[in-house]
Amino acid sequence: MRILQVSAELFPLLKTGGLADIAGALPLALMAAGQEARALLPGFPAIVAGVRDLAPVAEFTAPWGERFGLRAGHVAIAGAPPIPTYVIDAPALYDRPGNPYEDTSRQPYGDNHRRFALLGWAAAQLAQGLDPGWRPDIVHAHDWHAALAPAYLAFARRAGGPRTGSVFTVHNLAYQGVFAPWHFAELGLPAPAFHMNGLEYHGQISFMKGGLYFADQLTTVSPTYALEIQTPEQGCGLDGLLRQRSNVLSGILNAVDDQVWNPSTDAALVQGYQAPEGRHMAGKARCKSVLQRQLGLAERPDAPLFIVVSRLTEQKGLHLVLGGLDTLLAQGGQLALLGSGEGWLEEAFRQRAAAAPASVSVTIGYDETLAHQLFGAGDVTLVPSLFEPCGLTQMYGLKYGSLPLVRRVGGLADTVVDCTLEDMASGAATGFVFDRFEDADYDRALRRAFALYARAPDWRRVRGNAMRRPADWGTAAAQYIDVYQRALA
Ligand code: ADP
Ligand code: GLC
Repeated sequence: MRILQVSAELFPLLKTGGLADIAGALPLALMAAGQEARALLPGFPAIVAGVRDLAPVAEFTAPWGERFGLRAGHVAIAGAPPIPTYVIDAPALYDRPGNPYEDTSRQPYGDNHRRFALLGWAAAQLAQGLDPGWRPDIVHAHDWHAALAPAYLAFARRAGGPRTGSVFTVHNLAYQGVFAPWHFAELGLPAPAFHMNGLEYHGQISFMKGGLYFADQLTTVSPTYALEIQTPEQGCGLDGLLRQRSNVLSGILNAVDDQVWNPSTDAALVQGYQAPEGRHMAGKARCKSVLQRQLGLAERPDAPLFIVVSRLTEQKGLHLVLGGLDTLLAQGGQLALLGSGEGWLEEAFRQRAAAAPASVSVTIGYDETLAHQLFGAGDVTLVPSLFEPCGLTQMYGLKYGSLPLVRRVGGLADTVVDCTLEDMASGAATGFVFDRFEDADYDRALRRAFALYARAPDWRRVRGNAMRRPADWGTAAAQYIDVYQRALA
């Protein structure tokens, strides 16, 4: 199958969150499974700079009349085959400061409807033969940024265009791409598309709803989240539509790219390590002491090091970490956080670090190398999310033996097994799981982590379970291929 994967980000070129990790890993996994995968990306500066051998493919007209170019090249990744990649050449839309979605003062760009409609539009053009040398059988669109692709394809098909299967993956239902209705005329969709059975949402235009309504197949990034988004509590207003389409909705758990996240080969670590326990794990202790020194923490091998690598937003439940910090410190733990996001959270964590610099380290910003070092050094990875479609940091925590402490929600529930006596005995336990989104529940999970840490042989056993948990892309790729086949059927 020829599969075109459409997303706004792709690791290692451009990343603001887990979407990029998945967009970078899935094409490789599909190629490894014998499929022909290509990527389509907006021409953000980091993407134009990172895609090799970019050459013009074609020109096309946007729905609002402007002409743009499409170029193609490849993303080169060490130890993997290159990913053939199309880039939309539109500097007027994409060559801007700030992140892909917002300006430097964190305001969404006023023409985001055009910037991302163009992504879906270009995908649909490719499906209709824009590149004479390659036409996809499947267009796989990720998140609201690419969500108009299935809508364009559905209307092209009704107009007698070629049959291209469409798959839409929700990485986070909370970000929907909602725009004022008067922009509809710029999107190049026929009037019936702006309907309750279409992308109309409370009088507004919802890109997310367009993807959910028009795609042949829907997926999201964990089985539990696939169920949760069908409920009013977590459906973000779209649960009705998701229930209606539940026959085409599957939850496919994200995996971990072993080339990027592997403690035995990770170049960011001072010393590699691997399970089983014993001398193979000496590297982890060394990672911890070097990082403690680097961050100005007390160099104490016996102090359990709790880490956070996260966007600082409401989703991630970090006020629980703030609320539980006194307990954590009173029991002799240390906290090292790396993140950026909402101002009040950044400030609150900064203050805690200033008050106790030998036990709390806070790095505000985005730092890929430090992220790896934190997983390498950490004993516990904190992910107490309010909601979590999949979550990757708990999976990195598992793989690096930095045991996840998570709330039982979304993909966190699907990937971490609590240290109950029975799951310790059976060898299934891999971390600490709490249920209610409350300080008291979080605190109890923290205390369980300290209690286990005090029992070194048990700790090592659970850490071995965690590090051995399979998280390979082969399984996920096979499930996606199955979904593509259904989209074509
Ligand atoms: P989300 O996509 O909701 O942010 P995930 O857990 O799926 O959450 O993915 C987050 C990704 O972003 C992980 O690869 C994580 O390591 C990375 N990340 C988050 N914040 C930072 C940061 N401040 N510096 C470096 N990497 C970060
Ligand atoms: C989203 C979700 C996160 C998920 C990631 C990759 O950003 O918030 O839970 O892991 O996408 O699918």
